[in-house]
Amino acid sequence: MTDAQGHVPLTHARWQRVWRRVPILHRILGANALIIVVGAVGGTLIAVRHGAAHPSSPHYTLIAGFLLAGVAASVLANFLVLRAVLRPLQHLQRAVDAVRAGATGVRVQRDGLWDEQLEHLADTFDGMVAALEEQTERLRRLPGQILRAQEEERRRIARELHDEAAQALTSLLVRLRLLEQTDEPAQVRARVRELRALTARALDDVRRIAVELRPSVLDDLGLAAALAAHADALNASGEMRVTVTAGVEGRLPPEVELALYRVAQEALTNARRHGKATVAHVHLRRGPGEVRLEVADDGVGFDPARMGRARGQTTPPAARNGSTGLGLAGMAERIALVGGRLEIRSAPGAGTTVAATVPLPTGAPGARDRG
Ligand SMILES: Nc1ncnc2c1ncn2[C@@H]1O[C@H](COP(=O)(O)OP(=O)(O)O)[C@@H](O)[C@H]1O
Ligand SMILES: [Mg+2]
Repeated sequence: MTDAQGHVPLTHARWQRVWRRVPILHRILGANALIIVVGAVGGTLIAVRHGAAHPSSPHYTLIAGFLLAGVAASVLANFLVLRAVLRPLQHLQRAVDAVRAGATGVRVQRDGLWDEQLEHLADTFDGMVAALEEQTERLRRLPGQILRAQEEERRRIARELHDEAAQALTSLLVRLRLLEQTDEPAQVRARVRELRALTARALDDVRRIAVELRPSVLDDLGLAAALAAHADALNASGEMRVTVTAGVEGRLPPEVELALYRVAQEALTNARRHGKATVAHVHLRRGPGEVRLEVADDGVGFDPARMGRARGQTTPPAARNGSTGLGLAGMAERIALVGGRLEIRSAPGAGTTVAATVPLPTGAPGARDRG
């Protein structure tokens, strides 16, 4: 049933399919049983005939010949079957060695006699190698993504400093020059009042930028308080009504708090800037072993499938109307770094919901199961 290399000829495709379903153990047992059956039946027949033809002979030569032929047949059959069934293991070993040597794109070669169990093992190995390669590729891209996100953040801060704080300081300068030329005491007082109001606004701007950079309330009081403070600041601007419900007592691991805070921040910025939302709701709750943040807005919505990068694709979408698409990708990346997953549900006209779920390490702060 096999050729010299232990291969089943390809013309026997059906036979091969049946054969693959027979486990290796059964193949070896079957081969040995066959040898014993052939030996016993054949031996008995020959012994009976020989005994009838030569009733007085002790049959020693016959017994010795039979013993030798039996042992030879058994060794040969076991050798052929074992060599054929061990070939897939050699392929597996070669694949393992190749992976260890750092080769990429390694898959287990599938010729030789496979059975279902071995095939399952090879599939699992191939799957693990593929997952490992994907992970390696993600890690390789990560520094670039981090740098890009960092530069984007710097550009945003520079823009805000320039547009808001620097503008306010420029008009302060202009008004100070005017003040210099004023002699009338009543006019001086009016200009000083103006200056004070302008200075207060500039101070507000600088404080807001500082809070956006790193809200101290996040370090001091935790995620729920930081979300509430951020919502208050957005509500004060009056453009959008933000509500927060937080069912999380105590603190979460700092990296989880920061990642979720940044997701909420970006989702709310998007809701206001792109969605033109009037209402947004932030919902934070802890389930068994995980924490979940949802930010839902009633804005114009969009098609998340077109924002490929947030879903882990590498090619950036064409930058449209100044949109970088880094916000969604950044959220996904941040959540992936703390082992969680990000979902974006949206459709044109149907609002947007951004949901981040992050597992909590057992034994970490906030990881206690509160039922
Ligand atoms: N809440 C939202 N409502 C409507 N559109 C959104 C929302 N969030 C994201 N988008 C769309 O996804 C695009 C990418 O968003 P994002 O990755 O945050 O980049 P950016 O904010 O820099 O434009 C936006 O330009 C917008 O078209
Ligand atoms: Mg954005």
